[in-house]
Amino acid sequence: MKERLQKILAQAGLASRRRAEEMILSGRVKVNGEITLTLGQKADPACDLITLDGQKVKCKEDAAYFMFHKPVGYLTALADPYGRPTVKIFLDKLPVRVYPVGRLDKDVSGILILTNDGELARRLMHPSFEVPKVYWVKVKGQLRPEDLLLLSSGRLFIDGKKAAPAQARLVARPPENGWLELILTEGRHRQVKKMCAAVGHPVEILKRVAYASLPLDPKLKAGEIRPLKTGEIKTLKDRVNYDQILPKVRNSDVRI
Ligand code: URA
Repeated sequence: MKERLQKILAQAGLASRRRAEEMILSGRVKVNGEITLTLGQKADPACDLITLDGQKVKCKEDAAYFMFHKPVGYLTALADPYGRPTVKIFLDKLPVRVYPVGRLDKDVSGILILTNDGELARRLMHPSFEVPKVYWVKVKGQLRPEDLLLLSSGRLFIDGKKAAPAQARLVARPPENGWLELILTEGRHRQVKKMCAAVGHPVEILKRVAYASLPLDPKLKAGEIRPLKTGEIKTLKDRVNYDQILPKVRNSDVRI
């Protein structure tokens, strides 16, 4: 199937679409031996020979998207120098190679999106899209209304920098009353734990129950993975204006 060249380069994991456009315009990309300088040009990775700086562009297999219910006890990494268990043992069971979008700590469970679509992953992790993440949290002690206010205020400092305003409320949902539901649009390192500790209520149990408006499928048990449905993929893509070319999205900008 014919696709725009910048999309092919981005899906091959070579660059963001914006960067791929720059590569095309600077004459580094050829299709069947011809330099192509037009951004609208399409090619079919299955039939056309596409090269970047003379090297064949290895086109990825079709994009694949999954929902994973990450269990507690596994690092969100593909390898660990200390030999601790990682989510790789679950990913290895899939027929395609995919990567986690963002990270959950070893002692945190919940929804993790897996994909080989680098462009979507980069956008979902980029702070400018403010992708919402919903956490259920059991904290030590009893949260008071003023703690909830502080958590949501945008005035709470963690690591010397204000945390963005969040939504914080107590939920009467399982496994028992009094859990905190926290909705964050930032993804700083160990953010929920740091925010709760900053109001004097360290986290005891933490679970992510939704990501970018996709709820964790209640039928998915911890450790299970299922393909995303077409509508769910669309929800993710719409959330980050996937079909629009954007100013450069740098790898160094992305956050969980
Ligand atoms: N906040 C945390 O503290 N840990 C996570 O894994 C995710 C969010």
